[in-house]
Amino acid sequence: MEKYISNSAEKTAKIAKKIAKTCKKGDNLLLFGDLGAGKTVFAKGFISAFLKKQNVVSPTFTIVNTYGEKNPIYHFDLYRINDIRELDEIGFFDYVYGNGICLIEWPERLMGVNLKNTIKVQILKIDDETREIIVEKN
Ligand SMILES: Nc1ncnc2c1ncn2[C@@H]1O[C@H](COP(=O)(O)OP(=O)(O)O)[C@@H](O)[C@H]1O
Ligand SMILES: [Mg+2]
Repeated sequence: MEKYISNSAEKTAKIAKKIAKTCKKGDNLLLFGDLGAGKTVFAKGFISAFLKKQNVVSPTFTIVNTYGEKNPIYHFDLYRINDIRELDEIGFFDYVYGNGICLIEWPERLMGVNLKNTIKVQILKIDDETREIIVEKN
């Protein structure tokens, strides 16, 4: 387990970029944290490690956004998922058991589904600018 303290969005992105460099194809990052904790900020930093000038936007409404072609990164926001069947419909399991890296916001919505190759990232809001980031690789 690794713990980091971040005092800005930029620092969180930098930490994510560092973690990205230790990840491999097929990894699934579970991004836990309340609304506004910094999950999307983390995802932006993570993706920037592989794709420099990529414009990363929150997948709140699209559920999943794809970045890159050869070694794709899939960025999910499962906030609006209410039922496992909805995950099936978007082909979620093909993504997570495939060769890409998946970044998953609101993994609580998986409702007990166990994924392989998971890395658990918890972002805790300490105050407006401070976050504790806990990373556990399985
Ligand atoms: N240390 C920090 N790390 C990440 N975000 C921070 C930090 N300090 C302030 N923020 C702000 O918190 C917000 C996090 O938003 P976002 O990443 O969209 O949250 P989430 O995806 O978890 O709902 C951003 O507005 C960001 O600028
Ligand atoms: Mg978000």
